[in-house]
Amino acid sequence: MVTKVVDLRSDTVTKPSEAMRAAMAAAEVDDDVLGADPTAQRFEAEMARITGKEAALFVPSGTMGNLVSVLTHCDTRGSEVILGDSSHIHMCENGGISTIGGVHSMPVVNNPDGTMDIDRIVAAIRHRVGAGALHYPTTRLICLENTHGRSGGKCLSAEYIDKVGEVAQSHGLKLHIDGARIFNASVALGVPVDRLVRAADSVSVCLSKGLGAPVGSVIVGSKAFIDQARILRKTLGGGMRQVGVLCAAAYVAVRDNVGKLADDHRKAKVLADGLKKIKQFTVDLTSVETNMVFFDIADPRITSDKLCQLLERRNVLAMPGTSKSVRLVIHYQISDSDVQYILTCIEKAVEEILSGNAKFEHLTNGSTTNSYGH
Ligand SMILES: Cc1ncc(COP(=O)(O)O)c(C=O)c1O
Repeated sequence: MVTKVVDLRSDTVTKPSEAMRAAMAAAEVDDDVLGADPTAQRFEAEMARITGKEAALFVPSGTMGNLVSVLTHCDTRGSEVILGDSSHIHMCENGGISTIGGVHSMPVVNNPDGTMDIDRIVAAIRHRVGAGALHYPTTRLICLENTHGRSGGKCLSAEYIDKVGEVAQSHGLKLHIDGARIFNASVALGVPVDRLVRAADSVSVCLSKGLGAPVGSVIVGSKAFIDQARILRKTLGGGMRQVGVLCAAAYVAVRDNVGKLADDHRKAKVLADGLKKIKQFTVDLTSVETNMVFFDIADPRITSDKLCQLLERRNVLAMPGTSKSVRLVIHYQISDSDVQYILTCIEKAVEEILSGNAKFEHLTNGSTTNSYGH
């Protein structure tokens, strides 16, 4: 008998659907490094169309999508990028833009809604002129993240992105969006993806998160940008041969799963409402805009580590954030009854901890921190 596991660690944990597996098996493929894979070409053309950009490039991961994009925009030594201080690129990508690309970061504080204040962005722009001529790197790029993971999956509006785009344009900078979950933002805001990213010169879109594909991201932008990005992808070892096998699954993910995101967001709200009723927790319901639910543990006897251990024994997987917070992520393979099951398991786990009878292994003495790099 197969025991069902309800996995809320991330939206990256989905298993490929039957339709994806069938599409992978049937995919017409050829060598994509030679520019000959028809399925990859069709998929890239479709993603360029959906995002309203001239061209697209399939890359193995969101990290590589961001890295290739930043490095393509910042191809001159001494380049600097303005980005959120809690953005994924800054916090969770091994500093690759610096260690691999030699690009300097200028972090600007992220507000709780994932935005950076426009005046702070403007104040962070640096040019090699005047007093800075001998000392400053040159700002070439601004990066936004939508949805913004560390703010709980909140959405940046089209109006806000347009304003940042105006700042970029008026200072001769480029704008990149880490759109790992841009479809979640689009659905939650009711704004088509192409409108949402209109001001951006490039966007990196993850296919293996809310959309549920097994592997991959695409970057989109102008044809000239993508031509350069293709060279950099090859340099980084991301040129893949019969990659149509992966693009076929990604195509099905976009076709079948964008329409399910609204339901994921609804389930996230149901989950948050249920958690709010547990008096040992605090949940900010207004922060639940998409598929992520963060909750804090107010009771001193409960840690996230203890809670997650007891949940795992009931086949519910969750990931501690800090020692006193947990992040749960809904995806299309979580049903309404799973949400009720999760709530029941969490209530039972809380009771068990408070009763003092629960036994734990390998506790971290409250030092748990999670990078949320997923
Ligand atoms: C906002 C954001 N950007 C980029 C990435 C990187 O994606 P990948 O894990 O495919 O490298 C992630 C991963 O979760 C993410 O959450």
